[in-house]
Parts: sequence; C-alpha cells; structure tokens
Amino acid sequence: MKVTEAIFLQSNTEYEKCPKPDKPEYAFIGRSNVGKSSLINTIVQKKGLAKTSQTPGKTQLINHFLIDQKWYLVDLPGYGYAKISKTEREKFESMIHNYLSNRENLLCTFVLVDIRHEPQKIDMEFINRLGEEGIPFCLVFTKADKLSKTAVDRNVEIYQQKVLETWEEMPQFFISSSVSGTGREEILQLISTLNSEF
Ligand code: GTP
Ligand code: MG
Repeated sequence: MKVTEAIFLQSNTEYEKCPKPDKPEYAFIGRSNVGKSSLINTIVQKKGLAKTSQTPGKTQLINHFLIDQKWYLVDLPGYGYAKISKTEREKFESMIHNYLSNRENLLCTFVLVDIRHEPQKIDMEFINRLGEEGIPFCLVFTKADKLSKTAVDRNVEIYQQKVLETWEEMPQFFISSSVSGTGREEILQLISTLNSEF
C-alpha cells in the first residue's frame, strides 16, 4: 500500500475527545524511547511528522495522524519512564489504558520492543493486560539496524520463548528499523488488509 498524504490532526488527553471513530485506527505503544514516533514517520515517509527525541518521555499526548483521508495512526506516550513522579506516571498509564480499552475503531495496537534488550517485565505485563482485555495487538522489534542479522534472530527467538510461557502462540510480529525502513512494507500490508475489512 502506498501512503500519499499524512497530516497531524490533534493531540488529546482523553479518548472521548479524539476524532470521530469512523475510520480504521492503529496505535503505537511501548517503552519510552523505543522508537514509536520514529516508526510512524518511517511508515508514512515523512520526517518530523511525529516528534522524536533522544531523551525519553517526548510524546506526552494521544496524537492522531490522518493518512490519505482514510485511516488513523496514533502516537502514544511511552510507558516505564523512570524520571517522572508516581502521580504523573499513573496519569499517563490511565490515559493510555482508557484509550486502548475504549477506542472502538482501534483495529490493531503495535507494541514496540527494542530488539537489543532481553524481554522486560514491564512489556510482558503490558501485553498480558492487552490479552486479558481482548485488545488486538502485534509486536514490533525495533532498532534492528543496531544488531547483526544473527543477533536479531537470536533475540527474537529468546523473546518468543518468553512470550510462550504465558501465551499459547506467538502473536504476529515484525522486525523494524526506522533507519533502514525494514518492516515498513510488512506493517503497511497488515494495515491494508485490516483497512479492507473495516
Ligand atoms: P517517547 O515518545 O519518548 O516515548 O519515545 P519514542 O518511543 O517515540 O521514541 P523516538 O521515536 O522519539 O526515538 C527515540 C530515539 O531512538 C531517537 O533518538 C531515535 O532517533 C532513535 N531511534 C528510533 N528508532 C530507531 C531505529 O530504528 N534505529 C535507530 N538506530 N535509532 C532509532
Ligand atoms: Mg514518541
């Protein structure tokens, strides 16, 4: 699928104020700094559309982007950012969870994990909660350009084993790099398929 137009629509703290849920929607979530905003920019091939930063905690709101007037991409704040107060963190978490649990047009949530790291408790808890709530998701292993192909495969295998401790099967997953564009086509292919079923 080709992407021709990508525009920023609005930022919200409450899912009720988000754009009318009349188009298919896809959200990007994961630990702070994992590369959510970068991946969105890579998917739509528009640098600087979603704001990125080397410092964690950049994205702080529910950001809607309208793609080709037909579907939405949503950039969410990361979780697990250590340098904020407990109150602040709880506020972000409830914002994210209210959005994910209630957004009726959300067809798939892309949960991003950094391919370089071992499976993290916080990510496992996050995907387990999505499972409990029946929220459809895929996994995306980010920053693949930072490892050799062998190391990528090894880490995916380790991750898979961890996931299979609690899940009957491995959810659909993608290997991505916002630097090389790896994974872009595959993610767009899934979006295209889901769009046609909406
Ligand atoms: P928050 O909004 O703070 O939660 O972060 P985020 O998940 O949106 O991450 P962001 O896209 O801002 O990227 C964080 C840092 O990682 C930036 O310095 C990016 O340039 C870098 N980065 C993101 N994706 C990739 C990637 O695929 N490869 C490499 N090498 N660096 C990446
Ligand atoms: Mg971000």
